[in-house]
Amino acid sequence: MNSSTFFFRSQCLKNFGAHRNIHCLRFMKKRSFSISGFTCHENPLGILQTPKKPDGIKKGTSPTDRTRVESNMRRGLPTKRGIVGVKHVIAVASGKGGVGKSTLAVNLALAVASFRKHVGILDADIFGPSIPRLMNLKGEPQVHEKDNNLMPLVNFGVKAMSIGFMIGDDAPVVWRGLMVYWGELDLLVIDMPPGTGDTQLTISQQVILDGVVIVSTPQDIALIDARKGVNMFKKVDVPILGMVQNMSLFVCPNCQHKTHIFGNDGVIETSKEMDTDYLGDIPLDASICELSDLGTPIVVARSDSYNAECYKDIARKVMNKVGIKFD
Ligand SMILES: Nc1ncnc2c1ncn2[C@@H]1O[C@H](COP(=O)(O)OP(=O)(O)OP(=O)(O)O)[C@@H](O)[C@H]1O
Ligand SMILES: [Mg+2]
Ligand SMILES: [Zn+2]
Repeated sequence: MNSSTFFFRSQCLKNFGAHRNIHCLRFMKKRSFSISGFTCHENPLGILQTPKKPDGIKKGTSPTDRTRVESNMRRGLPTKRGIVGVKHVIAVASGKGGVGKSTLAVNLALAVASFRKHVGILDADIFGPSIPRLMNLKGEPQVHEKDNNLMPLVNFGVKAMSIGFMIGDDAPVVWRGLMVYWGELDLLVIDMPPGTGDTQLTISQQVILDGVVIVSTPQDIALIDARKGVNMFKKVDVPILGMVQNMSLFVCPNCQHKTHIFGNDGVIETSKEMDTDYLGDIPLDASICELSDLGTPIVVARSDSYNAECYKDIARKVMNKVGIKFD
């Protein structure tokens, strides 16, 4: 069945009865989605009704892991499942807010698409969705006639789904349930909200993620949270693909003077300390911000620029790590 259900169990339970939730339910009803009931949170995001790999146990799983997964299943704890039609799923996360997750997620998705791959991006930030603006997409997604699934919107050759398509810019709601028809994808990039909360946990525990990319600026306060992020994903057995350093280097456009505004190599050092790979560095550059705000991310707007090449370089490393072959 080509359906995905996005369901934030704990958000939902916490907010049940709150105005926001009622708004959401009404909105769902109006568009006649088949929404999940409170009892079907075991099928939260883009998930197969029959597990892709039997019982959620990956091929090649070590005997210890296999025992753990089997024990989880016996105890009724969530098992991870794949997303129909989607070969690889990665998440972009950080501990801290505003360090450049969405910018990286979008430019990574576009970079992989530029290597002639089928790519989608899912905005998991239910309270501050950024994907509509970054991808210059708006309007309500169409509902697929046959199975009542939502069709992602498409721009720059990348499919995108976000709660932001269905609410106004300043009306955060709880994203209770969402059915998405992704079609065939080589890669789905999930743009995570900041922090290490319910959304991160729900997605990590219930979806087979190929791994997570942790982005941080190099200053201590962001790195403390980045470490928390790495530890959380390790705990739920999500592979850490590596860390990206964002906004470390600023080159003055007038005199070419180089300044490390948030510090120098903090992310490189932290990745060593956390025993994870370092995937690369994105400079602090006004053009990245401006082009993002215009809805023309730098990887498409200035695909040959140094900054775009930084994103593409990280994309190549991620593709290699998850096993997406270049043509
Ligand atoms: N390398 C960069 N150079 C300049 N500006 C950047 C860079 N990376 C991100 N930004 C800008 O920083 C701001 C925050 O970026 P972004 O929205 O991607 O962060 P985020 O981690 O997703 O935030 P949130 O936690 O709110 O989801 C945006 O205005 C974005 O354009
Ligand atoms: Mg964001
Ligand atoms: Zn200068």
